[in-house]
Amino acid sequence: QRIGLLFGGCSGEHEVSIASARAIAEALAKDGNDNAYEVRLVYIAKDGSWHGPETAEQVLQTAEPLVTRGNGGATLARLPVLEQVNQIDVWFPILHGPNGEDGTVQGVLTLMQQPFVGSGVLGSALGMDKIAMKMAFAQAGLPQVDYMAVNRSQVWSNACVLPKLCDRIEAQLGYPCFVKPANLGSSVGISKVRSRDQLETALDNAASYDRRLIVEAAVTAREVECAVLGNDMPQASVVGEISFDSDFYDYDTKYTAGQAALQIPAPLPETISRQIQAYAVQAVQAVDAAGLARVDFFYVETTGQVLINEINTLPGFTATSMYPRLWQASGLSFPALVDRLIQLALA
Ligand code: ADP
Ligand code: DAL
Ligand code: MG
Repeated sequence: QRIGLLFGGCSGEHEVSIASARAIAEALAKDGNDNAYEVRLVYIAKDGSWHGPETAEQVLQTAEPLVTRGNGGATLARLPVLEQVNQIDVWFPILHGPNGEDGTVQGVLTLMQQPFVGSGVLGSALGMDKIAMKMAFAQAGLPQVDYMAVNRSQVWSNACVLPKLCDRIEAQLGYPCFVKPANLGSSVGISKVRSRDQLETALDNAASYDRRLIVEAAVTAREVECAVLGNDMPQASVVGEISFDSDFYDYDTKYTAGQAALQIPAPLPETISRQIQAYAVQAVQAVDAAGLARVDFFYVETTGQVLINEINTLPGFTATSMYPRLWQASGLSFPALVDRLIQLALA
């Protein structure tokens, strides 16, 4: 089968995507796969321009993003994806964050009637936008932290709107709280704030990434994650836990070796693990995700409460990432997992 591996992306998680794509390309090339795969690489540069196999191969080998002049913007008619449409059996978009995990690329592929790994337009879009995601979770009865949706216009408005917004945040959520762009990942643009000054700075910073922002009450909790695999009958993996010394699980903690430790399976009471697995499957169904998803939770040990944090419909996929490691611990090796995802895309 010919696999179109689509990576990079016009997103703050571009580098993460290159790392994920390297691992997947390696697994697809490995002997011992039941099916022989031929990988066709397509790379989206940070400026949004699309590049065929030659450039893509170079980026994958060097792990260096392509330096472009910044005026990219793919002309749809010239997309390598279009030229390759008839030569690809199934696409594997491994793009993280906006312009890839959010339904945009899924829309292009759907329009061209191309099978692809992972969620469709709706699941991707609902899973990406933290405000829409939380509304879907609330509708499904999943417990989560208190939050407020904010629009950039409230932050960048004239002088009297921002203080009122901050007053409301302080009254409804208090400190500490988290300020986030609604559509991002890898903790890019996220701040934990403890004062009015920090709140204003954090809102301004998050607004530079996204028109839609979310502010959440902070919980003191353990961070646990569950991987889900499947389409109509999704299965949950064992639960894993992340521990770290930093203030929260920020970008550096996520991607600097040795900063965070993964424990798989997480040392949790059996009832809690089962609860998390059930919530993970409900979360996938609540946003209509498919194929793969990693669902992240807070476990408040003192009260025994499990709160859902978020769903990632294209989770980090390097050999040491949580998603493949959770499946490995559940009996599915990295290459077998990639196989399974491709078969699910064709199902
Ligand atoms: P991303 O989509 O970028 O991963 P998250 O919403 O998962 O963003 O937040 C990143 C990290 O910030 C979390 O893993 C956690 O460490 C911390 N965090 C986010 N929201 C909260 C919250 N409400 N309470 C406590 N910690 C939080
Ligand atoms: N957004 C990153 C890639 C993750 O959730 O794994
Ligand atoms: Mg997260």
